[in-house]
Amino acid sequence: MTSFMGVDHVGIGVGDVDAAIEFYGRHVGFDRVLFDYTGELPGLDVVAGRTPSARVAMLESSDATPIGPARVKLVQVLDGDGPPPVPAGQAWGEVGVCEICLHVRDVQAVHDALVAAGCASLMGPMSADVPPSGVTLDIAYVADPWGTKLEMIEWTGLWQSLPGPARAEGINHVAFGVTDMARTRAFYERLGFTQLLFESVEFFDPMAPWYEAPWYDPQHLPAQHMTMPMPAQGAAIEPVVLDPPGHDCRGTWGHLGPMDFGIRVGNIDRAAARLREWDIAVHGEPHSLDVGTGEWRYVYFAEPDGNYVALVEARY
Ligand SMILES: [Fe+2]
Repeated sequence: MTSFMGVDHVGIGVGDVDAAIEFYGRHVGFDRVLFDYTGELPGLDVVAGRTPSARVAMLESSDATPIGPARVKLVQVLDGDGPPPVPAGQAWGEVGVCEICLHVRDVQAVHDALVAAGCASLMGPMSADVPPSGVTLDIAYVADPWGTKLEMIEWTGLWQSLPGPARAEGINHVAFGVTDMARTRAFYERLGFTQLLFESVEFFDPMAPWYEAPWYDPQHLPAQHMTMPMPAQGAAIEPVVLDPPGHDCRGTWGHLGPMDFGIRVGNIDRAAARLREWDIAVHGEPHSLDVGTGEWRYVYFAEPDGNYVALVEARY
């Protein structure tokens, strides 16, 4: 039996890892630097077109709970012309990673603290309950100082946050665009994302200001189909289909902003073998990097829309 344990981390391209460690540590709760590695990253030929050199810092929140367990991976590309730019034309839900969602205790307070720390408010705090199960939640959105969309969610109907002050936990889910929801659901179900927490086919009106000309006609916004398949353990995914589809916003691997994610596994050799049994293309054998504090094992694989996704076995 191979165990898949949900989203391990979301990768964000940054221009300055030191500044990002400071910001994410001080203001977003990711106070533990699990490793800070500079060097070549093998195994990225297929997704990056080369073996990139980069500085990579893996950050964990010491307030992480079972519903906000995932980490942030800061990536600063060092070779070529440095970090590629944010993909043009991204509103939300185009193919590519578009959002990091933190589970928080007290959405209003965390939103206000992030705005005070220099984030732009993209959506003020609100409460809702979501189909198909009517689970209640509070949400808000900000953009970090470099433009990454950070959602804050408190799943009040699912998980009573632990006592204590208002705070951000770790990552609850990662949102990314796909083109065929049924295909994506079937694909990720095999990787452990089995429980449908949320599904909506209505355009979420508070996001309307994000869809700007010339990429969108504000009078004719695309339909949004969102789902949130959760694993039994670990952080969730939120695939989104826009109709009509937007511009391809995967961008070049390592670009600024959210750009890839990892799925945590117990034994990466077994997990990679399992993907191959399912005829999923795995980009080489799992790589093992000595990151000083331990061993970082990963391997990228082909997902249906070419989003950048890896298996991760963390030994740090
Ligand atoms: Fe979300």
